[in-house]
This record gives sequence, structure tokens and C-alpha cells, in this order.
Amino acid sequence: MFWTRNATKEDITTALGAIIDPDMISGLVMQDGNVLVTLDIDPARHVEMEQAAAKAKMTLERLKGIKQAQIILTAEKTPARADAPPIPKLPEQTREIAPQVKHIIAVASGKGGVGKSTVAVNLAIALQQTGLSVGLLDADVYGPSVPMLLGLRDKKPESRDDYLLPLEAHGLKIMSMGFMVKEETPMVWRGPMVQSALLQMLRDVRWGALDVLVIDMPPGTGDTQLTIAQRVKLAGAVIVSTPQDIALLDTVKGVQMFQKVSVPILGIIENMSYFSCPHCGENADIFGQHGARTRAAEMNVRFLGEIPLNIEVREKSDQGMPVALDPLHPVGRIFHGIALEIRETLLQGAGGQPAPLITIEPLVEA
Ligand SMILES: Nc1ncnc2c1ncn2[C@@H]1O[C@H](COP(=O)(O)OP(=O)(O)OP(=O)(O)O)[C@@H](O)[C@H]1O
Ligand SMILES: [Mg+2]
Repeated sequence: MFWTRNATKEDITTALGAIIDPDMISGLVMQDGNVLVTLDIDPARHVEMEQAAAKAKMTLERLKGIKQAQIILTAEKTPARADAPPIPKLPEQTREIAPQVKHIIAVASGKGGVGKSTVAVNLAIALQQTGLSVGLLDADVYGPSVPMLLGLRDKKPESRDDYLLPLEAHGLKIMSMGFMVKEETPMVWRGPMVQSALLQMLRDVRWGALDVLVIDMPPGTGDTQLTIAQRVKLAGAVIVSTPQDIALLDTVKGVQMFQKVSVPILGIIENMSYFSCPHCGENADIFGQHGARTRAAEMNVRFLGEIPLNIEVREKSDQGMPVALDPLHPVGRIFHGIALEIRETLLQGAGGQPAPLITIEPLVEA
């Protein structure tokens, strides 16, 4: 095809229409000669569609003014056609989720940026220092931060016998989507892809025997939370909040979401609770007092503790040396107190439930 002018979005749609059904185009973004097209496909046709996507990419890159085309396949819709073949099941469908892991706990919050990842990492370290074997799964496929928090940037997991081997840091076993994709890669995910990626990190990673697997959740109550809550037998969820009213409202939503799917709440942690001044050692309640503690009591949920806003928490996280590595640090000590309490609950069988071991249901490939 030949155009004397640069290709427009309409030209792209026309060119794609010769290769695929234009109804499948669910997104088309164009900027500075870079084109990103998302195609909503029927998962049963994914092999055929991958070939079509490769052809579409080549075709688009031949158009005038287009430097690079990226085609992303998503599978949000169920097959519309009555004669569609059955959805293929992955061969590993009978693989259990982390079969030798005794307790899986999720660190979650209704609101972003409240310190979930910071709490998850420090809690994992503190739990390990109580003598437990601990793993950490970064389930934030959109913005994985665990590689940075544990000094594992640019590291890649090895695979062996069809399993991925988790990386190790400070004695923890770690897996994160951040090991699979470059940090700067924008991640365009949709429901089934998130589910598939998460389940792979749980099921196809050789976690080995662990007492506890801590899952660092992305913010909110979306696809990831549902996938984890529905597919994984969680021993419980730890909800992180900050003292501001808006965060507390989201905390209530977060607690209710887990309760709705019968996941026990291990407790609420209030992060950035008060400001501990590095110079004078004074504590100041800059966001008001005891908001999360009060809300926890109202919801009849355990309150696990208050973590101050402390510059060293961030600095040490940025250096990949979380503060809990030093149990004598004032904040490290708080994490250790919380870890002991959680350990106690887990050993008693959180929510009266035995250790979480389940076989997943057949998985729909995304
Ligand atoms: N107690 C604290 N004192 C000082 N800084 C903190 C504290 N807790 C978290 N931070 C800093 O706040 C920022 C956000 O924390 P973090 O990434 O843990 O939040 P998050 O809830 O996981 O965010 P997201 O919702 O994006 O996943 C980070 O820079 C972190 O170092
Ligand atoms: Mg996070």
C-alpha cells in the first residue's frame, strides 16, 4: 500500500480490517509514529490470533510515518459464537498453588500509596526473623516495587524443569512481575491477563516448603484482589491504612471486600501514623490521632499497630535494606511486634481455618 501522506488512525483501521475483524479492535493509540493497538480476542483462537497480530504489526510498520507498531491481545470477552470451539485448558491445570506453603497472607489496602509494599517487605523480614521460612510475592503487576525494595532490580529468575525459581534476598524467596518486564515498559493488562500472570507466579514458581507466603497486593478492590481471594486459600489479609479520613473510608471498603469472600482479616496496620522527627526524637500526630485504631474497633477487627512516618523507612527501602533488618531500630521493633502477633494467629489457625492448601479449578487461558 502506498500513501503520499502519513497514515491516520482511519488508515490503520482499514489496514487492520484486511487481516482481522475490525470489531476486535478495542483500543488504538498513536503518538509520534508509534502505534499501540489492543485486540479483544476469543481465547479459544489465541494461536491463530497471535499469527494475525504478527502480520498486522508488519503491515502497520510498512505504512508511511509509522515507526513502530505494537499489537496487544487481550481476552476479556467470552466467545460470542455458538459454534466456537471449547476454551482450551492449560496442561498444568492440576498444578496446585504453592502446595508446600502453609499460610498465605495478603497485605492490602483500598487506597494506593499508603505503604503496602513497605509493610509487606518489612513484615516478611520480621516474620522470617521469628524463625519462620518466608516468601514474598509482589502481586502488583501494574507497578511492581518489590525488586527495588529488596535491591533486586535487573535480576531475572531462572527456570528449571518447567518451573521458575524464585530469587532470594535477605533469606526471603521472592517473585515479582518486575523480574519479567522492564520497569519502564508500560503494562497494558486486562482482567484475564492479570489472572493468568498472577496464577503463574503462584503455581509455576518453585516456592518449596514455606511457613508463610506474604502477597503484596496492588491498591484497590479490582481484578487482582478477586483472583487472589477466589483462587487462593488465604489464611488472612492484613489491611494497611493511613490515618486520614479518605484512607480510612477505603480501608473499610477493603475490609468488607475480604469479608465478603470469607477471607479472615488478620488486622489493620496504621502506617505514617505520626511523624517521628529524626532530629529531636519527638513524635507529632500530623494527621490526627488513632483513626485506624478506632475504625478497627468499630469493625470488630484487630488493630495490629502504628508505624510512624520516618525518613529512614523510605531511605532504607530505597537502598534495598528494609528497616526491619535491624530489629533494634525503633520502627524495626514495631514490625517485629506485629510479626509476632501475626505468627501467633497463624499458628493457632487464622479464622479457625487449617493451613491453606487447595487445588485450583481449570484455568481459562488468557
Ligand atoms: N512509614 C513510612 N515512613 C516514611 N516513608 C514511608 C513509610 N511508609 C511508606 N513510605 C514511603 O511511601 C511511598 C509509598 O509506599 P509504598 O510503595 O510502600 O506504598 P504502596 O501502598 O505499596 O503503594 P502502591 O499503592 O503504589 O502499591 C514509598 O516511597 C515509601 O518509601
Ligand atoms: Mg505497592
